[in-house]
Amino acid sequence: MSNYVYQDKEATMPQLSGMLTSRFGDETGDHEALYIDAIKLLAAARGAGSAMDIGCGRGRITELIAPVVAEVVALEPDPGRCNWSREALAHLSNVSVFEQTTSDYIADNSSRQFDLTILGMVLQHMSTRYCVTLLDEVAQLTKPGGIAIVSTTHALEQAACFTYQHVADARISEEEFNAYAENSQAQDKGLPVHRFSRPELEALIPDAFTLVQWHQFSYYRPEHLEHFAQLHKVPARELENHGNSQFVVLKKR
Ligand SMILES: C[S@@+](CC[C@H](N)C(=O)[O-])C[C@H]1O[C@@H](n2cnc3c(N)ncnc32)[C@H](O)[C@@H]1O
Repeated sequence: MSNYVYQDKEATMPQLSGMLTSRFGDETGDHEALYIDAIKLLAAARGAGSAMDIGCGRGRITELIAPVVAEVVALEPDPGRCNWSREALAHLSNVSVFEQTTSDYIADNSSRQFDLTILGMVLQHMSTRYCVTLLDEVAQLTKPGGIAIVSTTHALEQAACFTYQHVADARISEEEFNAYAENSQAQDKGLPVHRFSRPELEALIPDAFTLVQWHQFSYYRPEHLEHFAQLHKVPARELENHGNSQFVVLKKR
């Protein structure tokens, strides 16, 4: 995956975030609170250990856990985002940021494993072929007895689909999606977006892991239910108790 470019400037993220809610009344307004709290808890519980943040983006998860673990290795293949994270996290002496994918990192550090590995909101932009490889590499990078956290999109089973960030109405085949996802330089319709159902995510979990927990998060605010119902092409009432994202906590055997 050399020359990877993340085709998003995240300009639409604040708008999307404003349409979502945590639902557990924490009053922070953070729709990701359940997911972020799980990461904080698991990182703190593994405090003496090492963590890897795969696809760190702008480094928000690395920054969050660095104070409570001994070491964080962050990987980010997009050069601009990698530089951003490097600069933003330069003050944290226990953090290293590499412009690498998991395959690149494993090639350079074949025996290195971590107590905690995090693959946060990456899978939905990857080809289905690559998702299998990526999860296998997450398993390879996690110590026996260690924990992995994997988050991604979440759709009802009948609404799971492949689409484009900027042509959200489009429904494309897995093959078309994979071809588009595998050439990031030519992504003229924005990011490839795979809306994962829960069974689709669970089917990706390698045998090396035991599934400890599954959660959904980022619920739709009632006043925006209709918008998401149209996007997902399902009746609004079916989304009332449905999170826009999901995560799994996995334990390496
Ligand atoms: C939606 S962002 C999530 C960023 C971060 N994990 C977070 O939760 O804030 C997805 C990130 O995955 C990165 N990415 C793309 N291909 C990747 C790969 N093969 N391995 C790891 N990360 C990748 C992208 O460059 C992008 O920064």
